[in-house]
Amino acid sequence: MRISKSAVRFNIRLLLAGCAFACSIGGTTARAQDEPIRPGSVWLDDRGKAIQAHGGGILHLGSVYYWFGEDRSEENDPKTRYVACYSSTDLVHWRFRRQVLAVQNPESLGTDAILERPKVFYNKKTGKFVMYMHLDDAKYKLARVAIAISNRVDGRYTYVKSFRPLGQESRDIGQFVDDDGAAYLIFESRPTHGFFIAKLTDDYMDVANAVSFIKEPLEGGALVHYKGLYYFVGSHLTGWRPNPNVYAVSSSLAGPWSEMKDIAPPETNTFDSQSSMLIKVSGSRTESVIYIGDRWKPAQLWDSRYVWMPLKIGDGGLQLPQPEPWLIDIKTGEVAFLPEESKSISGAAAEQK
Ligand code: GAL
Repeated sequence: MRISKSAVRFNIRLLLAGCAFACSIGGTTARAQDEPIRPGSVWLDDRGKAIQAHGGGILHLGSVYYWFGEDRSEENDPKTRYVACYSSTDLVHWRFRRQVLAVQNPESLGTDAILERPKVFYNKKTGKFVMYMHLDDAKYKLARVAIAISNRVDGRYTYVKSFRPLGQESRDIGQFVDDDGAAYLIFESRPTHGFFIAKLTDDYMDVANAVSFIKEPLEGGALVHYKGLYYFVGSHLTGWRPNPNVYAVSSSLAGPWSEMKDIAPPETNTFDSQSSMLIKVSGSRTESVIYIGDRWKPAQLWDSRYVWMPLKIGDGGLQLPQPEPWLIDIKTGEVAFLPEESKSISGAAAEQK
C-alpha cells in the first residue's frame, strides 16, 4: 500500500494532538497546533467563554469563516435578543468578534419576542451583509423572517424589517449559497406542510421566488451541493427535543427529490442533535462536508452544545457517524479521527460540565 507524504504529515499531527491532550491533563497550558473538534463538549472561544452561536450559520469569506448564532448568554439582558459573531481560519479556534445584533421590542412584540437561527449572506453587488432571522411572538404565531444589515461582517447590524417570505408563514430558516454564488433561504411553512428553497432578490433584501417546495413537515433545513448532487437535511417537528433527522437528494435544486431517509440510526435521535447547517470545505486534496447541529438544553439554553461532524456522503448517500473528536485540515480539506489510545484521554479532558 502506498502512503502519501501528506497522509504521513497528517498522522503525525494527529499524534501531536493526542499528546497535547495528555499535556493538558498534566495541568500545563501547552496547546496543540491541531486540536480536535469535540462534538457535544463545551466549546470555548478565545476569551475562554462558551461559544454562543446556537441555531447558527457560517459565512465563508476569503480565508476566514464567520459563525453567527443566537447568543443565549445567561448574563444577557432578558429584554434584549442578541446575535453573536465569531471568526476562525481553521474552524476549530474561534475568536469572539462582538454581539453584532441587539434588538429590543422588534415589531412591538414586547420583551418575549423570539429571534432565532440568524444567517448572514454577503451581497457582492451592494457590499452589504444581510442577516436573516426567524422572528416570532412568544407563541410562535407570527412566523416571519426579519432582516438586519451591516457594512461590515462583524459590525453592528441595523434592524430593517420583517415579512412573510412569498406571503407564507416561516419559522425555522436555513441558508444555502450555491457554487455559482446564488443565495437561497430555506424556510419551513407549517400550513403548507413543507419547506421552501427560495432564491433571494438581487440585493438580498427580499425573497424572489421558490425554486423548490418539498412537501414534508420538516424544519432545521440545511442544504449542500456536493459532487453534482443536492442533499437536503431536516428534522421533524418536535420543538427542542431531538428526533431522527432525515435527508433527500436531487440532481437539481428544483427537484424532483428522492424519498426521505434517516441520516443516523433513528434510535439515537441524530445523536441527540438537530440540524442547522451543512458546510462544504474544499481543500487542495479533497472536499469534506460537515454537519452542524444543535444539542439543545431548553432550560439552560446558554449551555446548549454543538454537534459538528464530518459526514459520510456521496453517490446519493449521506450518513452522520457516531460523534467523536476529529481533526480537520482546512488547507487540504481532509478530516481525521484521533487514534484509539488518545481518545480516552481526550474524552476525559473534554468532560467539562
Ligand atoms: C425547534 C426549532 C428551534 C426552536 C424550538 C422552540 O423546533 O428548531 O429553533 O424554535 O423549536 O421550541
